[in-house]
Amino acid sequence: MPTKPTITQIENAFSPAKEIDDPQRFAGRKKFVEDSYYALISEGTNIAVIGNRGIGKTSLARQIINIATGRNELLKKIKIETDQDLDFLSIYYTCGKTTETHEHLLESLLTNRTCLLDWIYDIPKARRAADKFKPKLNVGAFSLEGEKGSETTYESSVSNHGVETVFTNVVSAITEQGMTKDGVLFVIDEFDQIKNKQGFATFLKALATNVPNVKFCIVGVAHDVQELIEEHESSDRLFAGGIIDLPSMSDAELEQIISDAEQSIDSYIRFDPNAKKELVRLSQGHPYMTHLIGKYVLRNAYRESGRDIGGPDIAKTLRAIAESGIDPILESRYKKAVASSRQREIVLRALSDVQKDSVEIHTADAYKRALDEGVDNPSQFVGHLVTEDYGAEIVKTRERYYRFRDSLFAAYVSARPRVFKKENLG
Ligand SMILES: Nc1ncnc2c1ncn2[C@@H]1O[C@H](COP(=O)(O)OP(=O)(O)O)[C@@H](O)[C@H]1O
Ligand SMILES: [Mg+2]
Repeated sequence: MPTKPTITQIENAFSPAKEIDDPQRFAGRKKFVEDSYYALISEGTNIAVIGNRGIGKTSLARQIINIATGRNELLKKIKIETDQDLDFLSIYYTCGKTTETHEHLLESLLTNRTCLLDWIYDIPKARRAADKFKPKLNVGAFSLEGEKGSETTYESSVSNHGVETVFTNVVSAITEQGMTKDGVLFVIDEFDQIKNKQGFATFLKALATNVPNVKFCIVGVAHDVQELIEEHESSDRLFAGGIIDLPSMSDAELEQIISDAEQSIDSYIRFDPNAKKELVRLSQGHPYMTHLIGKYVLRNAYRESGRDIGGPDIAKTLRAIAESGIDPILESRYKKAVASSRQREIVLRALSDVQKDSVEIHTADAYKRALDEGVDNPSQFVGHLVTEDYGAEIVKTRERYYRFRDSLFAAYVSARPRVFKKENLG
């Protein structure tokens, strides 16, 4: 008989709040891991991981870093043949709201302790290159001497072009040291947060010419690389062979996540086949949904001393997840779209239910469902849902066709219990 897991084990069997770092817990995605590995060993290839919210981009990026630093557990697990272990100096950075341009990004990479700063201190040539960089916010960030000046605010003495040059020189000085066999890998997560991306691809191109052995892996929500970097002409060759476009996970992959979670608690609590099927169905390809729902279902089972989770347990938990706003952002988007209208809720749900297997929604299918539930003029509510007032969750793609802006939200809509009860039509 398996031993009873601790509360901590239960709470961490699923991890909706965290990407997967541990290769043993990384499910599926074989082709994409393989593509990533090949991109890492291909000279001159940069990597772009693109896909929807909650689809697993950051988790894959973590695995790319593992592989780039010689930790081959995942490659072994999924039986991908390798040469020598890779040896990159890997630097991970997540862009935020304050990252306005790619120059800001470079500046952050230079001045962050977890990025380049410590290397700059250690390598004299890099330090000399960095000392040329004195924008007002970071005066004294690099100089070991001249502490006196460190509190002073100077006007920027270098143009934006200066940041690019300084970055190039610093990275060049670091790679010249030959500390790592394969050079430097920069993984830039949430790249789509950068407000103005113009010039980044041009910069990458120049960097590649001036410094061998530098690779960028940019990660973000986008349909294609062009959309991600917003520069059309320059991007093609830079990312040739390195574009990892993450689709929804397959049912088998999502089931694997559930099995891995069960295993982490020695299968003390189990999802019966119905519960598994239901959890996979509700996730609609998004591992985030599997982790989110799975976590709370498991917690409830543990609290109630249950050891078998069935389909009905999942439905029960969904209501609790919605009512307590476990994911406050998705929940507030739902509330904003529905607001006080039962009819708009019906239309929103009709759209998400119809969408399931395709990207586009044909309005006729959705209207039919809405009419069946007593909404007389569904088109009016579709009209609402495309506007900012209701969150602009729906986008018109062409005449009579719409799609959800964010497939994760669509999955949440279908999974979430209704605000307005079905029976009370009127
Ligand atoms: N291959 C995977 N195996 C298991 N869980 C995964 C996998 N990829 C993603 N997840 C889980 O899905 C959720 C979303 O993943 P994340 O990497 O943060 O996605 P994104 O960066 O695309 O938003 C997280 O809870 C993460 O733990
Ligand atoms: Mg992410």
